Amino acid sequence: MTTTEWAGAAAIVDGPGGYTGIEATPEWAEEVRRLARERNATLLAHNYQLPAIQDIADHVGDSLALSRIAAEAEEDTIVFCGVHFMAETAKILSPNKTVLIPDERAGCSLADSITAEQLREWKAEYPDAVVVSYVNTTAEVKGLTDICCTSSNAVDVVASIDPDREVLFLPDQFLGAHVKRVTGRENMHIWAGECHVHAGINGEELAAQARSHPDADLFVHPECGCATSALYLAGEGFVPDDKVKILSTGGMIDAARETGARQVLVATEVGMLHQLRKAAPGIDFQAVNDRASCPYMKMITPAALLRCLREGKDEVHVEPAVAERARLSVQRMIAIGNPGGGE
Ligand code: 13P
Ligand code: SF4
Repeated sequence: MTTTEWAGAAAIVDGPGGYTGIEATPEWAEEVRRLARERNATLLAHNYQLPAIQDIADHVGDSLALSRIAAEAEEDTIVFCGVHFMAETAKILSPNKTVLIPDERAGCSLADSITAEQLREWKAEYPDAVVVSYVNTTAEVKGLTDICCTSSNAVDVVASIDPDREVLFLPDQFLGAHVKRVTGRENMHIWAGECHVHAGINGEELAAQARSHPDADLFVHPECGCATSALYLAGEGFVPDDKVKILSTGGMIDAARETGARQVLVATEVGMLHQLRKAAPGIDFQAVNDRASCPYMKMITPAALLRCLREGKDEVHVEPAVAERARLSVQRMIAIGNPGGGE
């Protein structure tokens, strides 16, 4: 069969919310796998992707795990089913590979919350500080960074820095507050950025859910507006300490396999529930906020993935000089901390 012979592909429609018109049928899955083989491509999917995309991927994981897999991939092409900064990070790590994202319009509100110009100005105020940037940043911002981190190794990254050096941590204020709390570090300045999806998962909602499910564990992503409230609930004795876990998306999978709880309240983007339910089918996982869906992650539709593999689009390019500057900070990131959750 050639790429044009699968009649279903003709139905792909491009619109403002992304590519649509294709259902994730077994025929679609067969065509995607065939095209991936033809391109010698590996398909990577973040934990927030649509279930059909997660199920067809070669690897599903958190940001750190997927960066490490991308750095070591043997295939010629990496198809990154995630948002743009993730695909860009893969390209920085593997400049000689072709990196494709099924829809380059899949951005990130957190990555948009600081520009390279703003970081230059901030650095000028603290010329001796070490700059730690969350991986949710543009390649230009990474190029002005000493060490990148993800939610699963942010604490280890900051703890690895000489305690006498000041730290500029960006762009997520909630992750920054979490790292400051855990490390007890006072000389850390935090950028006031946020992810609109996680910031919307608020403390009142979490407290109400925790009250109505007193035996449930709470899995909370550190980007959430409610991370502080979760620790407050534990600190004040409303929820036992050992039931509140602040975790990256990959860390949630590991914790799901280990917990003895029968019910878990999950404070993060709703795509996460799919991998959690697969990892621990006996547990009842409930979203703290079931409207917490990332519109960018959801732009990677079955239609977008099919178009990507048929046309070799959208290809991710990072200007070589920018990639060169950013590479060291990303390589430091993948060398530090736990293995990250992905398989
Ligand atoms: P992690 O997978 O590293 O926990 O990141 C979550 C996220 O919001 C990515 O956009
Ligand atoms: Fe960015 Fe938030 Fe979407 Fe993650 S969930 S990609 S941080 S907008």
